[in-house]
Amino acid sequence: MNTKEIIELGDKYLMRNYGRIPLAPVKGEGARMWDADGREYLDFVSGIAVNALGHSPLAVIEAVSEQVRKMIHCSNLYYIENQVLLARLLVENSAMDKAFFCNSGAEANEAAIKLARKYAKIKHNPEKVEIVTALNSFHGRTLATITATGQPKYQKGFEPLPGGFKYVPFNDLQALKEAVGPATCAVLLEPIQGEGGVNVASITYLKGAKALCEEHGALLIFDEVQTGLARTGRLFAYEHFGVEPDILTLAKALGGGFPIGAMLAKEEVAIFQPGDHASTFGGNPLACAAALATLEEIIEGEIVQYVNVVGAILYNQLSELSQKYDFIKDIRGKGLLLGMELSIGGMDIVNACQEKGLLINCVGGNVLRFVPPLTIDSIDIKKAMEILDQVLSGINKK
Ligand SMILES: Cc1ncc(COP(=O)(O)O)c(C=O)c1O
Repeated sequence: MNTKEIIELGDKYLMRNYGRIPLAPVKGEGARMWDADGREYLDFVSGIAVNALGHSPLAVIEAVSEQVRKMIHCSNLYYIENQVLLARLLVENSAMDKAFFCNSGAEANEAAIKLARKYAKIKHNPEKVEIVTALNSFHGRTLATITATGQPKYQKGFEPLPGGFKYVPFNDLQALKEAVGPATCAVLLEPIQGEGGVNVASITYLKGAKALCEEHGALLIFDEVQTGLARTGRLFAYEHFGVEPDILTLAKALGGGFPIGAMLAKEEVAIFQPGDHASTFGGNPLACAAALATLEEIIEGEIVQYVNVVGAILYNQLSELSQKYDFIKDIRGKGLLLGMELSIGGMDIVNACQEKGLLINCVGGNVLRFVPPLTIDSIDIKKAMEILDQVLSGINKK
């Protein structure tokens, strides 16, 4: 099918829950994608921080091909070899001790919310139920996770929402101090808010959040669905801040493009008993094969170190553009999760870049987000920045 045919079928048969760009990618390799009409794109979206090793990485292709012949699915009624190996690899490379696997970021956060509630009930009292989250956060699209998400636009129309959530401005320690108390069972934060506009937490803020949680017997949950697995130049973003959470959630990059999510927790917090939580597909042999291959490649391929090098190149080139155009207000982020805040809307720029063969996206209306594959090289960064520069220069002339 060509692009037009795919779009026509999509408009006829798909629910209209996505505001889709009229582009139909059919093939990907490394940092490149091709649409159904054969047009090539440089991909700085990466399936929104999913394709960490680029499109169709060889390690994942091989692991999945081998596993698919052995076994695709197996119930969690039994022990699954790839699942236990993946759990060990995650635990050995993080400050966490136990893993639960699911299929998405929202599910990982659901599991975290349930675990925190259960923990508070068992260790403290039944009234300790409140989860404090940040404004502008994003934690997923299930009922509990849109409620955890501190953005009313995601909640509107879906009321009644589950109770027990409280919101505070991000990076405002005083506001957090006022919100956290005896009724708080957990504080849930992204170390860097991705969807909310690439907002980086300060070290003081996250250290303060940890201290407040300890003072009030609450758990600290870090949502690293977007920031986890080398994206920010550390395997986990919490390492930048010197603050270990009690619960950590992951998804996006974990499967190298294959759907898988995880909730990790410290030993003393991992109090789930048989029957407390489950997922039919969670941690299945195929998804875990993809994740094992991805994580091994990230660790053994020294991707963290590489991200620091190429992340600095991208940051510097974005900063140079910000010197050139006065409508660029800020460049921020860490590693290869970078944002360019504009004093104008960003969607026209996204569309113009696409016309010229570069895919980027825009969050919060005015922040361009750059999340290329972690394997991007300096030549492709330069190409992308040349396209962006051309597009921005067109705007300056208006
Ligand atoms: C920080 C964060 N948490 C949770 C989610 C939800 O993940 P999923 O779409 O896999 O449910 C996202 C998705 O963008 C995210 O960025």
